[in-house]
Amino acid sequence: MLNLILLGPPGAGKGTQAELLIEKYKIPHISTGDIFRAAIKEGTKLGQEAKRYLDEGKLVPDEIVVGIVKERLSLDDCKAGFLLDGFPRTIPQAEALSSFLDPAGRSITAVINIEVNFDILTARLTGRRVCRNCAAVYHLVTKKEKVAGVCDHCGGEIYQRADDTEETVKKRLEVYQAQTEPLIKYYSEKGLLLTFDGEASIASVFEQITTALEAK
Ligand code: AP5
Ligand code: MG
Ligand code: ZN
Repeated sequence: MLNLILLGPPGAGKGTQAELLIEKYKIPHISTGDIFRAAIKEGTKLGQEAKRYLDEGKLVPDEIVVGIVKERLSLDDCKAGFLLDGFPRTIPQAEALSSFLDPAGRSITAVINIEVNFDILTARLTGRRVCRNCAAVYHLVTKKEKVAGVCDHCGGEIYQRADDTEETVKKRLEVYQAQTEPLIKYYSEKGLLLTFDGEASIASVFEQITTALEAK
């Protein structure tokens, strides 16, 4: 069973690798960012609350995120494994996660840490495009969809995320450094961290990850 966490700065390739990993291992992809964007699109109360944080590149408060993930992980499709993408993002979130996994006899198999230098992340993010329907990830230059504006996987509309502007990306990178980067040490001390060079090609990063997971 694989209970995985994807860790890395905005634009590191978490969503991109998640698409490949869930296909290979048949586990659900739980992206808190995707959950918030879906709620914003639906116009739910959660969406209205979350929108102001996402638009500013700030983290949604821990209490809100933790409740959502706890509920999601209790569903049957997570019993045989899961892939968390973008959660946990703070030490309190990591502690909350173990507080609901441990009593159930569940544990994290590995934390996949994708490293990329900050100077290339802005170009990745400002050129990124995403499917509004299935959240598949594209890039204007390096990963174009086959038919312009149409998702290869589901035919959905491709759009640019509201937080992928240069200004908001800068803020998101600051937030990552201040609030999320400490998780590298936290999970390393628990012996769970596997670190990968996220500047290699998408296929090569995937290959490195699956090789490391199979050696676990
Ligand atoms: P979230 O949606 O999680 O965004 P993020 O962490 O900022 O990460 P991204 O999705 O931007 O990057 P990614 O690593 O997935 O990169 P991708 O694969 O797309 O969170 C958004 C917001 O939601 C947060 O700011 C916060 O407000 C809120 N939120 C979410 N979770 C939260 C939590 N736990 N607590 C509180 N708030 C939370 O790739 C990027 C681009 O690079 C693509 O164009 C791709 O094609 C390209 N690319 C990928 N890999 C490669 C490669 N190897 N080589 C070249 N290009 C590549
Ligand atoms: Mg993502
Ligand atoms: Zn799609």
